[in-house]
Amino acid sequence: MQKIKTILMAAVFFCACLTGFSQRSKLAPTPPMGYMTWNYYADKITEQDVRTIADAMVANGLVQIGYDYIFIDDGWQGGRDNRNNIIPDPKKFPSGIKALADYVHSKGIKLGIYSDAAPLTCAGYTASLHFEEQDAKTFASWGIDYLKYDYCGAPPDKETAMKRYKKMADALSNSGRDIVFGICEWGGRQPWTWGAEVGGNLWRIDGDIRDKWSADFDAPGTPKGGIGILDAVNRNADLVQYAGPGKWNDPDMLVVGLYGRKGPSGDLGGVGCNDIEYQSQMSLWCLQAAPLMITCDVAHMNEATKRILTNKEILAIDQDPLGKQAERKINKDGWQVYLKPLSDGNYALGILNTDSTSRKYNISLEQLGLSGKYNTLNVWTGETKKKQSKLSYEVKPHATIVLKLNQQ
Ligand code: GLA
Repeated sequence: MQKIKTILMAAVFFCACLTGFSQRSKLAPTPPMGYMTWNYYADKITEQDVRTIADAMVANGLVQIGYDYIFIDDGWQGGRDNRNNIIPDPKKFPSGIKALADYVHSKGIKLGIYSDAAPLTCAGYTASLHFEEQDAKTFASWGIDYLKYDYCGAPPDKETAMKRYKKMADALSNSGRDIVFGICEWGGRQPWTWGAEVGGNLWRIDGDIRDKWSADFDAPGTPKGGIGILDAVNRNADLVQYAGPGKWNDPDMLVVGLYGRKGPSGDLGGVGCNDIEYQSQMSLWCLQAAPLMITCDVAHMNEATKRILTNKEILAIDQDPLGKQAERKINKDGWQVYLKPLSDGNYALGILNTDSTSRKYNISLEQLGLSGKYNTLNVWTGETKKKQSKLSYEVKPHATIVLKLNQQ
């Protein structure tokens, strides 16, 4: 009898998860794109900063090409009122979050916010444990469109993580508003294996990214431990099967354009990258169908940063509705080759040189399982070539060549 009861309960949990997932999976059909405040503002973020970001993102066209979220990370909270409603810090957000949401919505931008599955967040602010329903309703009443839910201060085991994330996902589902749910437990409990099932739309696969190419290149004397662009890419390469519409592997924010700025992305060896490396981050994030969250000073981007963040061909690869993450076909001798199937039956191809010297790479498309000849478009240079079956490129250190292949 007890056994039957257990089986029935497991079946009910499974069905509830599936129903929850089928509703929630519609929320992020392509990887979310926008701005996340953490790497540039840390917990000093204010409502005026958010307005400045919104205005800049409209003025420089970022919103119009798809970066349509602004996400307020940690540091906005001001505790709870006498009814236990979570409230923003009145000094940083004097007009309240609802007024700010109305403002960004009027510009065609959606608003994201941050909390944590414990009493306090990573930066020590009020969080949502035991207040999930109430906070989800508050966020919905403010007009929030996306919640990033962190895991600082929570127990290390996977079962508790699954329970706490499901609790908040259910609360969001019952809140009366469509709110995208981002799981942020840094990959330690393999959230790609359960994130969608508990109602997540994306899950961080790793710790916080630093503004650097790779931990392998940490300069002597810099504090160690932070992960760089290549470290995140390498981890994501093994997780292809878990991504798809409504459920994305999240290798963390874009560091493009930060150039070694002091702050969260600048510690643990975050000394900055060159533009080739920033362009590689963009290339690899898009090939791997990652969420694209800008974190630099969008009101004062230089030409290189603008060019990297606004290339329409690379963005279309990230946002392709098929939602397939590129498969790493080759990982040998400092070369990595990625192939991403696209919804029109064509492919995006990436060739990354992880070595620190410029080198020539020759490959036949047959080696990647592609028969026949393909026309190629180099998405970064605009160069087109007809009917290719063999490719040969000189690739600079840490550069990624991205080609669109089509057979028509
Ligand atoms: C954690 C997250 C970061 C950021 C900070 C805020 O470290 O992984 O992305 O949200 O917390 O405190």
